[in-house]
Amino acid sequence: MKTVFRDTNHHNSFVENGYVKLSILDKDEIHKIRNFYSNLTENLSIKNSVYGIYVSLDDKNLKLKTDTMHFIQSLVKPKLDKYLKDYKVHLGGFIIKQSDDYSYTYPHQDWIFSPHNETDSFSATIWISMDDLTPNSGSLGFIPGSHQIFDGIIGSPSSYFINATQGHEDLLFNYLTFPEINAGDAFVFNNKCVHGANPNILGGDRIIVGIGITPIDSKLTHYFLKPGTKNKVLQLEVPENFFLTHMNDDLIEEYEQGKIPNNCQVISEFEYENVRFTQNEITELLDKNGVSKGKYQIKRPIQPEQENLNYEEIKVKKEKKNYYKEYSKKLIQFSKIYTPYNIYKESKYRLTGKY
Ligand SMILES: [Fe+2]
Repeated sequence: MKTVFRDTNHHNSFVENGYVKLSILDKDEIHKIRNFYSNLTENLSIKNSVYGIYVSLDDKNLKLKTDTMHFIQSLVKPKLDKYLKDYKVHLGGFIIKQSDDYSYTYPHQDWIFSPHNETDSFSATIWISMDDLTPNSGSLGFIPGSHQIFDGIIGSPSSYFINATQGHEDLLFNYLTFPEINAGDAFVFNNKCVHGANPNILGGDRIIVGIGITPIDSKLTHYFLKPGTKNKVLQLEVPENFFLTHMNDDLIEEYEQGKIPNNCQVISEFEYENVRFTQNEITELLDKNGVSKGKYQIKRPIQPEQENLNYEEIKVKKEKKNYYKEYSKKLIQFSKIYTPYNIYKESKYRLTGKY
């Protein structure tokens, strides 16, 4: 794999685990970012999405996200230069996890930004924390080595472009490992490395700055499912601003309307489908690769009717209805976004209370 790390140990850890931790920002820089963020919140309503986070790059306000991207790139890039070489940055924004009891970031892989057929290339996200984090305040967990275990193409639109981890979120969550991370630290993780997070239940916003990198000679790439097909993929060469105007919702619309996105060049078209593993096959793969189970699991609230309660107890619980309403709304959205398998799973849960 091409190296962008000045330190061989960082490179080796990134290649082996799919992530490495670096200490990037000092107190003054964190302070500047926090100020920028609090000015941003005056003009925005920041809310966790169905993915359990708010991502500024997904905001509808183009000027706001472009200004935010430039601010983050200009502040972070010089700091990255201390650790990285022969690389370039793309995008940049805030990844906020608001405090609540249910906003999990389900284990997933990110879109890749480098050509998949260049096997020595890769793309990665730099995930920089503004706080000392724990798993209960939304620190990021990884499945070590998963970028090699699930080495497929990850592209858009996210509800249609199926990847190997989809439908296995509950199982995979149990294999996440949560490295310690303090304010100013960054995880550099391969976009194929499976990652996820618990809800942030400690109060206050979890503020993360994210920025993408690829090797300097790698062409910025996006993979898009060919409209009208489920097994043909278009390799697109894209300018950085492609992602500012083509968010997942836009790409879903274009796919459904049979359109190829504008502002990009189609490099190739080929037949492609990611491998769909069974739960047993995933477990076997993880065992074979020496991945051990962590201590966290996805907990879902039990509906009052499913508990062995008397009428009064159910009534009291039902008064907390807003919580359940909000949660089931999220589950419905989650099912829509994810796979038919998940829809089946959620329906079964609603009928039987079991997965
Ligand atoms: Fe992600």
